[in-house]
Amino acid sequence: MESGRPRRKQSRKGSMAEVPKDLQNQIKEFEDLFTVDCTKLKQIVDHFVHELEKGLSVEGGNIKLTLQPMNVTWVFSFPTGNEKGTYLALDMGGTNLRVCEIVLGEEKGGFDITQSKYRLPEELKTGTAEGLWGYLADCLQQFIEYHHENEECLSNLPLGFTFSYPATQEYIDHGVLQRWTKGFDIDGVEGRDVVAPFEEVLVKGGLPIKIAALVNDTTGTLIASAYTDPEIRIGCIFGTGVNAAYMEDAGSIPKIAHLKLPPDTPVAINCEYGAFDNEHVVLPRTPYDLIIDRDSPRPGQQTFEKMTAGLYLGEIFRLALIDIVDHKPGLIFEGQDVSKLRKPFSLDTSFLSAIEEDPYENLLETRELFETTLDIMTTQPELEMCRRLAELIGTRAARLSACGVAAICKKKNIESCHVGADGSVFNKYPHFKARGAQALREILDWADHEVDKVDILRAEDGSGVGAALIAALTLKRVKEGNLVGVRDHALMKSLT
Ligand code: BGC
Repeated sequence: MESGRPRRKQSRKGSMAEVPKDLQNQIKEFEDLFTVDCTKLKQIVDHFVHELEKGLSVEGGNIKLTLQPMNVTWVFSFPTGNEKGTYLALDMGGTNLRVCEIVLGEEKGGFDITQSKYRLPEELKTGTAEGLWGYLADCLQQFIEYHHENEECLSNLPLGFTFSYPATQEYIDHGVLQRWTKGFDIDGVEGRDVVAPFEEVLVKGGLPIKIAALVNDTTGTLIASAYTDPEIRIGCIFGTGVNAAYMEDAGSIPKIAHLKLPPDTPVAINCEYGAFDNEHVVLPRTPYDLIIDRDSPRPGQQTFEKMTAGLYLGEIFRLALIDIVDHKPGLIFEGQDVSKLRKPFSLDTSFLSAIEEDPYENLLETRELFETTLDIMTTQPELEMCRRLAELIGTRAARLSACGVAAICKKKNIESCHVGADGSVFNKYPHFKARGAQALREILDWADHEVDKVDILRAEDGSGVGAALIAALTLKRVKEGNLVGVRDHALMKSLT
């Protein structure tokens, strides 16, 4: 460590005295734009509670397929810890692709995991459906060849397929993609079942694998976290996208009343709350949020996600800087070539994390970052402003994120619980957890002396272990004769 390295501080407002008045005014403008106070947070939560209820209602269940939130996942219980067996899991996240083999139950609540990661090529995200399914199948094939070399008689390996996009599931082994999110834009997939065409490719390739469950990453997170922590009630992702899942009682889900399930049957619901407030009733959107939405592959969708998720935070920051450059000439970066900064999505969330993590009073690391990433030489006051802007964007994301969790707690009258959380923003963005916890404290009116009653904790591996557990839970109930929400009865029985 270098000598003279100062202690890390959470806020640098103290050094603002050296910032010229016009930049201070700019900072004030940003503060007004990005600060979400407690009153607003509470309004957002109340609106979100209403959205949760609407999504479960018959009317909510009937709205256009592409708009449906609150997806029934056909997961009807938490794991007991006694689940057993070997399962494959395929995780198609926003950035990487992961194949795992999970052996459950050597001891209660235990598991062994073998995994391989593959890059998800950028061009695949805007390519063809055949290209996507073919690539996923190739990765599975490579995994099997590598880890099961020379094993001749493999057959019917059950797969939990974590597909982290909004899907309407009539069955657990089925799912119609409502719309792509997180920048994906592959033709011919939206509005169709994703399981059948993928299965077809697996069969054609002669792979000994059968899809036992299509799983959302949040449901996987909920179930995996509950496997090791009985206080878990909610599973969340704060990453490239945002979303949560929780257990609802069947009796509180009017849109599945026709199934006549006992009212106290637990049903895991994938909220898809990244799409909340698509009607723009309550979220305090800035001009930068509007631009992000307008220029995205799916304008009008994922309003909440576009203000809080990792895919967008760097872009919000970039748009704010470009706004000053274009509309307040000479205020920042005078005489600098800003062409790199003009490139959409040229800054990702790690750029903001790095700024917020800069330990030096003189923001030396931030200065270097601007120089190396953007070829921009900065002045000290400019750095101070950038630092404050990053802090504001990161804080807004954390505070808004808390609203989703708080809404589920309010809807379910949960006073205290654990929340399992995963995702790059939760795991890597500085102060995200503390800022979110502070917002929850304000929203849920905890007294100063009270510890965090709703505690957001780092989750177990939802897309690996969670998907395997969901496959195991499904096969277990099929074996017991419960075929609710199962499409291919014969196939599923053959897997048990
Ligand atoms: C998707 C969700 C997913 C979330 C986190 C969102 O864009 O719509 O299905 O759970 O990202 O990965």
